[in-house]
Amino acid sequence: MNASTLARWARANEYNATIEDLTAPVYEKLRQVIPEIEWQVHAPYVAAINAFKKERNAIILAHNYQTPEIFHGVADLTGDSLALAQMAVSTEADVIVLCGVHFMAETAKLLNPRKVVLIPDLEAGCSLAESITGADVRLLRQRYPGVPVVTYVNTSADVKAETDVCCTSANAVEVVESLGVDKVIFLPDEYLGRYVASKTSVEIILWKGHCEVHERFTAEEINAYRGQHPGIYVLAHPECPPDVLDVADFVGSTSGMINQVGRVSPERVVMVTECSMSDNVALAHPDVEFIRPCNLCPHMKRITLPKILDSLESLQHRVEVPEDVARRARLSVERMIAIKKKPQVSSPSAAVARPGRKEIPHAPDEAGISQRTCYPEHRPQGGFSRGSPHFPDSQIFSRQNLDALATERRLTARRSQNQ
Ligand code: 13P
Ligand code: SF4
Repeated sequence: MNASTLARWARANEYNATIEDLTAPVYEKLRQVIPEIEWQVHAPYVAAINAFKKERNAIILAHNYQTPEIFHGVADLTGDSLALAQMAVSTEADVIVLCGVHFMAETAKLLNPRKVVLIPDLEAGCSLAESITGADVRLLRQRYPGVPVVTYVNTSADVKAETDVCCTSANAVEVVESLGVDKVIFLPDEYLGRYVASKTSVEIILWKGHCEVHERFTAEEINAYRGQHPGIYVLAHPECPPDVLDVADFVGSTSGMINQVGRVSPERVVMVTECSMSDNVALAHPDVEFIRPCNLCPHMKRITLPKILDSLESLQHRVEVPEDVARRARLSVERMIAIKKKPQVSSPSAAVARPGRKEIPHAPDEAGISQRTCYPEHRPQGGFSRGSPHFPDSQIFSRQNLDALATERRLTARRSQNQ
């Protein structure tokens, strides 16, 4: 059936025997979570999108937080941020439609500069990505010359361009430890950074960025689930506040949580993360009872079947990154992908013991900065020396205290000019 005819039917809300036939195998998978009456609205779009994918040699990558009709209905590959980045490298398709948020599409574009990368809604952002700019990272580097910057992929390409190496929630500890240094700047998720700090002896300098979805969960809420459902297995995303992670049985990325449900097969679980995850995972585990706390990510929910269809048909919205930014940002993502991931630690209670602090010998280079620090393109080119006014290393930075730091630097520079 011709893709344009199917698209016309979808936009006219027409559900007919052809569409029913074309989408019957998909609905078999979704029957448990989508009532038939609702499926009749989705099915014409599912049929049209799947037809357009063939016509455009396109692939749909969908994050685990996408709604079931997208996740099971039209996505070719699904996963967490790390998996999506890895899949983006290996695809043969000409067009990648990223059903997720903007930073995910930007990461796919960085890794596929010659492919068309589309996001169905340009406004699908992320509170973490919004919390920091490239200029903030440059100021932090001035405060900690030579200290490597590890940045969560939930950031803009501008921020990635100022970064030594990226990480995701699935590999953050491995990435930090891979650098072989005793201190890193970890941006921008304070809670993920604190979680990493609890798993490593590497000293972590934090940024006060938070996920607007995960920061709303509380330990009281989790304890209430435990009270109501004795024996319930609690899985939490590391973007949650530390007291929530303390009372979880497992902490991991979205895919880490999904895999853990498969490994443990608990009778009853609660996934302390975005709503759609439980719907998507429940289909594969009919014997597990999912208690569903519901915090929606408004950005992820901007992606809908009608917008995916528009996107594929008109090849909009194309994600572009200016070449000078892309070149530097790509390096930080590629370095992450090159780091081999170790199996994930499954429970905070089984957390690796904090080993003693590693003493890394410093080998000052011509700028007086350790060579075992940040990557060459981020090394200060003179002008900085160690022993600048001391801030406690545990300090958590934010735009406010960085502004104060920038003002202080300007005043110091003016004073020394006037002397
Ligand atoms: P994952 O990498 O664990 O999928 O997390 C991405 C995200 O945005 C979670 O809020
Ligand atoms: Fe960003 Fe949080 Fe939404 Fe993930 S859930 S995309 S971190 S706002």
